[in-house]
Amino acid sequence: MNYLVVFYSRTGLTRKVGESISDLLQCDREEIYDKKNRDGISGQISSGIEALLKKRAKIKEPVKDPAKYDLIIVGTPVWSMSVSSPVRSYLFRHRGKFKEVAFFATGGTGSTNAFREMGRICGKKPLAVMEIAQRDRADGEGISKIKEYIEEIKR
Ligand SMILES: Cc1cc2nc3c(=O)[nH]c(=O)nc-3n(C[C@H](O)[C@H](O)[C@H](O)COP(=O)(O)O)c2cc1C
Repeated sequence: MNYLVVFYSRTGLTRKVGESISDLLQCDREEIYDKKNRDGISGQISSGIEALLKKRAKIKEPVKDPAKYDLIIVGTPVWSMSVSSPVRSYLFRHRGKFKEVAFFATGGTGSTNAFREMGRICGKKPLAVMEIAQRDRADGEGISKIKEYIEEIKR
């Protein structure tokens, strides 16, 4: 089985988690970059509004073709109890190409809703989901949960 880990990260936590997953699985990864400046309070507010309104951000063209992988593992920060707008864009853009999906989210509160939304966009039930909340950061940015998640994915 070959895996691709895809994630968006505004402040670095989802990137760290995504990198840990791809390091442990020894698989490819793809970071989603969007074209908007999301720095500071104004960036935070506009990001929250985009997520509330279910908007899609303008993202850079991804490098990897998801159709070439058996499982796409998609990670998002939780924004306004939902999926972030750059990840929403990625999912809409590629949803026809996914064989199987798994999801992870950082932030915690609202991740169940984010996963439901992501599954709906893809039209697929995820093989596994994982949330890394702020309290998990003390444990090596959630490394115990990440290892359990990988076991579940490989099962
Ligand atoms: C616009 C915005 C909305 C957010 N909404 C939530 C939320 O609803 N629930 C939550 O637990 N965290 C929320 N957060 C916190 C982020 O999900 C959390 O800090 C996340 O780990 C950041 O990931 P990143 O470092 O990869 O960007 C929000 C952050 C932003 C910027």
